Amino acid sequence: MREYTNEDLKLFEEIKNGKTFDANSEMPEIYRKNLLNLLWMQADSEYAGGLGYMPWIAKAPNAHERVLVAQIVKDEMRHAHVIYKILDDLGEKTHDHMLAHEFDWRLPDDLANIGFSRAKKDKRVNIFYYQITHWEDFCLFNFLMDRAAGHVLEDTLNSSFIPWKNAIGTICKEEHMHLAHGDKTVKEMAKNPEKRAFLQDRLNIWWPRVMNTFGKSTGSGNDIYQKLGLKNRSNAEVRAAFVKEINDKCAEWGLKVPDYVESAQPTENAYH
Ligand SMILES: [Fe+2]
Ligand SMILES: [Fe+2]
Repeated sequence: MREYTNEDLKLFEEIKNGKTFDANSEMPEIYRKNLLNLLWMQADSEYAGGLGYMPWIAKAPNAHERVLVAQIVKDEMRHAHVIYKILDDLGEKTHDHMLAHEFDWRLPDDLANIGFSRAKKDKRVNIFYYQITHWEDFCLFNFLMDRAAGHVLEDTLNSSFIPWKNAIGTICKEEHMHLAHGDKTVKEMAKNPEKRAFLQDRLNIWWPRVMNTFGKSTGSGNDIYQKLGLKNRSNAEVRAAFVKEINDKCAEWGLKVPDYVESAQPTENAYH
C-alpha cells in the first residue's frame, strides 16, 4: 500500500472539514484517480446490468412482469447514461469506451464462479459477467444484487463530489424499487413448495457471486475512498448490513443462506 504524502493528509483533513469538488474544480491526482475508478465501475455495471436484463422483457412469466422488467431495464439505462455524462464532464471518453467493449458478453458457464477476478477489460463489477439463465436468477439478482448496490450507493449520498451526490438520490430510489421486486417474487417462490427447491439451488449459485462483489476483507478496502469523502463506510460494514437483511428474510421465508468462505473463492479465470 502506498504511503500518503503530507499533501494527501492535508487533503483528507480538508475533505473531513467539508471540502467538496465539482466537475471543473481543480483536483488532486489522488482524488481524480479514485473518483474515476468508482464512476467507471458504476457506469459500466449499470449499462451491462441493463443489457443483461433485457432478454427478460420477453421471457418474463406474464404481462405484468414484462412491464416491470422493461421498467427496470429503462432505469438501468438511465443510471448508466447519468453516470457516463458525469464522466464526460470530467473529460473522459465514454462513447469510445462503450464501442470498445462488449457489454452484453457473459461467461458461457452457467455455474461459473470467478471469485474476485475479472473476465474482460471493461470496468463492470464482476457479478455482471454471469448469465441470467432462469426467471429465478432474475428475481434473485434483484433480491441480492440490487440490494447490495443499494447499500453501496447509499454510501454515496454524502459524496464530496457534488455531481455524483446530486445524481445518486433518484438512482437509489429506483434501486429500491428493483430490490422490492426481488423481495416480492423471491418470497412468493420460496413459499411455493413446487418452486422452493430450485430457487434454493439458484440461491446457492448466486450467493458467493454477490458476496464476492464486496471485495476481500483482507485488502485496504474502502479506506482511501472514505478518506476522500467518496464513501462513508468500510466494505466490511456495508457487507454486514447487507448480510443481516438477507439472513432475516431467508429465515422468514424458509430459505437457507449458504456458508460463504472467502478463502475458498477462486482468484483466477480463463477469460481475461
Ligand atoms: Fe441501477
Ligand atoms: Fe437495479
